[in-house]
Amino acid sequence: MIEPNMIPNLDPNPLPAPFWVFKVLLVVTFFLHIVAMNLMLGGAVMAIAAKWRAKDTSYGTQAFFDIARKLPSLLPATITLGVAPLLFVQVLYGQYFYTSSIIMAWPWFLILVLITLAYYGFYYVSFRSGQQPGKSGRVMWFSAILLFIVGFMFSNNFTLSQTPSRWSDKYFSDPSGWNLNLAEPTLIPRYLHFFVAAVAVGGILLVFMAMANWKRDRAYARLLLNLGGKTFMYATMAQMVVGLIFLVTLPRDMRMLFMGDNALATALLLVGVVGGIAAIFLMADALRKENLRVAGYLVPGILGVVILSMSIMRDILRDAYLKPWFRPEQFTVQTQWSVFPLFLVVFVAGVILWFVMLARFGLLGGKRAGARATSPDSTGAKQS
Ligand code: HEM
Repeated sequence: MIEPNMIPNLDPNPLPAPFWVFKVLLVVTFFLHIVAMNLMLGGAVMAIAAKWRAKDTSYGTQAFFDIARKLPSLLPATITLGVAPLLFVQVLYGQYFYTSSIIMAWPWFLILVLITLAYYGFYYVSFRSGQQPGKSGRVMWFSAILLFIVGFMFSNNFTLSQTPSRWSDKYFSDPSGWNLNLAEPTLIPRYLHFFVAAVAVGGILLVFMAMANWKRDRAYARLLLNLGGKTFMYATMAQMVVGLIFLVTLPRDMRMLFMGDNALATALLLVGVVGGIAAIFLMADALRKENLRVAGYLVPGILGVVILSMSIMRDILRDAYLKPWFRPEQFTVQTQWSVFPLFLVVFVAGVILWFVMLARFGLLGGKRAGARATSPDSTGAKQS
């Protein structure tokens, strides 16, 4: 039963650009946000895995700290690239997103605290670079777990925002703001879908680092390539199962969108599945032949297309959930032609600048200019 007054009225302010422009910007910026999030969170998982897999070897320690040094940059990149879709979500889906945020107000507020603590943790570990991991390993776990919880809050809020029929029950049974959306059947598969993807992308981060170290230190680069490449493959295989469970838990009419009812949604799912399978085989072959071009360019390229397809699918799914209430034609549009082109230019320039910064900073691959080299011996641990 839906309480009609639970959905706030549409903001009477006109949209300053056509609806579709905001839609495209929302999907594109969400894609950028989720790629940065995957590199950051997947990177934290891979740092823990590298330390664990390589046990006490100096290469394990080196990988742990090489990854750890990137995390204090990747976390703010995730946050900054999250602000943009947040603005577009508020413009287009504010009626739904604000309401769900109020219903789960306290857990939602808590993400600021969790992100701040996780950030401290990342800095702590990166400053201990070159020493024995010791406590740093536990701090890395701590930060990673906090960020996993943050992601869980996001999935709670975004699933709740697209099911207004649940709001009144939830709000009136506990108006204190201490709510989550745990009864939502798609919540766990959806959340797992994001985090298995993060682990796979974390594997790709190691492949990039292997490329950067290939000439400098072949044995270390091989360790990174194998650990990263295999993690990517196994996580993507697991993703096939998680994705299928996610699909099965969707309400029937939503599921059928991806199985023929909506041509675009079906085509995008096909791109995702075929792209994922192709990436697994290509990575396996690249690892066997030590083909860095395939592992470091082709597979990440395919992965980018798959993540973009999934981002569009996620948006189609949101509109399908909100179909009974969401009427884009009700927006009034008054395009501000005086500033809109300027906005687009600044936006595109900003994204380009961001990539230039990534390359200059050596975030994904090599060492940062001026960063202290961590030779296997400098860790003080014994050589494997
Ligand atoms: C730093 C830790 C963060 C993690 C781990 C994280 C993770 C996630 C995940 C998993 C989703 C998808 C949720 C779903 O659809 O079920 C998501 C969506 C989103 N995130 Fe983040 N996020 C983080 C930080 C932020 C921050 C700080 C902002 C804003 C300033 C932000 C803005 C957004 C927005 C707006 C969406 C949804 C966009 C849309 O609906 O199209 N994120 N995030």
